[in-house]
Amino acid sequence: MIKICFVCLGNICRSPMAEFMFKKKLSDLGLQEKFYVTSKATSSEESGNDIYPPAKRKLLMENIPITSHCATRLEKEDYHKYNYFICMEKSNVRNALHIFQTDPENKVFCLYDITSTPKDIADPWYTGDFNQTWSDLDVGLNNLIDYLTKE
Ligand code: 4NP
Repeated sequence: MIKICFVCLGNICRSPMAEFMFKKKLSDLGLQEKFYVTSKATSSEESGNDIYPPAKRKLLMENIPITSHCATRLEKEDYHKYNYFICMEKSNVRNALHIFQTDPENKVFCLYDITSTPKDIADPWYTGDFNQTWSDLDVGLNNLIDYLTKE
């Protein structure tokens, strides 16, 4: 089983959107049994909170099934629990590496680092544009499925 943890700053917008969108894509492909998928934050700012309401509305509008969510900060001990920590932007990578202190297995990278056009996922907390975040994630997650299924 491949264990994936999506990572953003607060774990209330981008990483839970990635988590539930990725779960839906896996389910549509019949691959859900091969993966364990979750999401976490690099900060404890939003710890305990549900998905930010506009992010949740966008997911529901796109018919993405959602289960209960509780924002959780990454811990050093998480490093050994997952195969990949897939970050939304470069600062998430820096902060995750600060928490883990080391990444000997190169598990921590940005979603678009596996594409030929690396970039950060648009941050809707500041832009208010959940459609752009959705589009960035949709393309990036399709690439991720291709990448992981070719492994
Ligand atoms: P997220 O969005 O990292 O995509 O969950 C944010 C949530 C909270 C804050 C920033 C971004 N904040 O500054 O509290």
